[in-house]
Amino acid sequence: MKQYPLYIDGEWVTTEEKLDVLNKFTQEQYVQVSKASEKEVDRAIEAADRAFRNKQMGPYERYTILKKVSELLQENKEELAQNITMEAGKPIKQARTEIDRATQTFEQSAEEAKRIHGEGVPVEAAPGSENRMAFTIKVPVGVVGAISPFNFPINLVAHKIAPAIAAGNSVVLKPASKTPVSALKLAELFEKAGLPKGFFNVVVGSGSTVGNQMMEDSRINLYTFTGSAKVGLMLKQNTGLNKLVLELGNNSPVIIDKEADIDVAAKNVAAKSYAFAGQVCISVQRIYVHEEVREEFQEKFIQSIKELNVGDPNDSETDVGPMISEEEAERAVEWIEEAKQAGAEVVYGGEREGALLHPTILTNVSNDMKVVCEEMFAPVVNFIPFTDIKECVKEVNKSQYGLQGGIFTQNIDTAFYAAKNVEVGGLMINDSSQYRVDLMPYGGVKSSGWGKEGPKYTIEDMTEERLIVMNLSSQ
Ligand code: SIN
Repeated sequence: MKQYPLYIDGEWVTTEEKLDVLNKFTQEQYVQVSKASEKEVDRAIEAADRAFRNKQMGPYERYTILKKVSELLQENKEELAQNITMEAGKPIKQARTEIDRATQTFEQSAEEAKRIHGEGVPVEAAPGSENRMAFTIKVPVGVVGAISPFNFPINLVAHKIAPAIAAGNSVVLKPASKTPVSALKLAELFEKAGLPKGFFNVVVGSGSTVGNQMMEDSRINLYTFTGSAKVGLMLKQNTGLNKLVLELGNNSPVIIDKEADIDVAAKNVAAKSYAFAGQVCISVQRIYVHEEVREEFQEKFIQSIKELNVGDPNDSETDVGPMISEEEAERAVEWIEEAKQAGAEVVYGGEREGALLHPTILTNVSNDMKVVCEEMFAPVVNFIPFTDIKECVKEVNKSQYGLQGGIFTQNIDTAFYAAKNVEVGGLMINDSSQYRVDLMPYGGVKSSGWGKEGPKYTIEDMTEERLIVMNLSSQ
């Protein structure tokens, strides 16, 4: 059985206690990873703090290292993708796409490392300051504490680490305990790329002990977290005045207007609802369909789902594989059952085999059902009819979340009405909520979080603007 050590201060550290990582399709043991105790977490934070204080990497050095990692990601693409399929159960074609996206995230972060700059400040325009000049510089925040989720084990780690390094920070990462291997493989790539020791540290734990220790350590200057709104709130309440970037939950809405191209909408939304078994923060969950096109959309949507291949994630043809665990699939079925008790109807799917839940559609749902108001994070969508776009937008906005949404319409007024009024961090017109390229600003409003991902935007969060004023009065 392959064993993976932790990565602390440029060294591979093996510990007594081990964490079993399962193959998510077979549920058999895949590898073992060393588990960090309090001592290793402390050592990792100490190393990051020391690295940040003792060595400042210049922008070009940061650019070179990040560029090299992006190249190494491509060189090792197949091995990294297969590892994601094993530890996350993500269909191999989606895992390969994830490596391509991570390559982009690193490449963009490398480029951004050369573009970090402040601005001139015209202090001389203030009465009495005629003989002064001022400008700002951008300085790194220091030690970044990163906590990443299971659903994109490489690219959501990349979105935290690459901009942090680009900005000149050091990092302590706690990857998801169900998918820690990708992060350790990324540490190998950083090592090959020549990152000075201490700038990137990976500590693995199960449960909340490692995260809690990180949260309470005052040497960490900024926390970046992707996960549930509940844990995000706990971090916000327990990290004092430290900076935070939070990418939290969502129950993405997509509106199918009566003036939509129904063929395009049905195919697009069906594919985007079930990718990685719906375990994407912007997976489509609430589909608001205009009454006039409801039947046609539903028929074509079901037709499109029938074309999706469900099963073994190692098969290149598979579109929908297992969920992250059998317990999670059971939880999704419980929510469906609860909704059924309250009047919902399953018009398609609903069958579960172990961790594999087949693509499912619910109708007759209401806002108080968990399948609608909570983050489903499973291959399940709800069809909700509407007749008036303004009323529909009001319903959409009743959600506590607001990460991304979508609207399909050929009517420009309707499209712009939605753009102005749907409460989300990003609205996709004639596309589903699940659109993301890595350079764009990505982040939500309301309980979906604070701050943005996308290298350029994360670097804003991960730097401080320092004002420099020169007193020239002697001249
Ligand atoms: C997420 O689940 O928040 C990430 C979605 C993506 O990067 O496509």
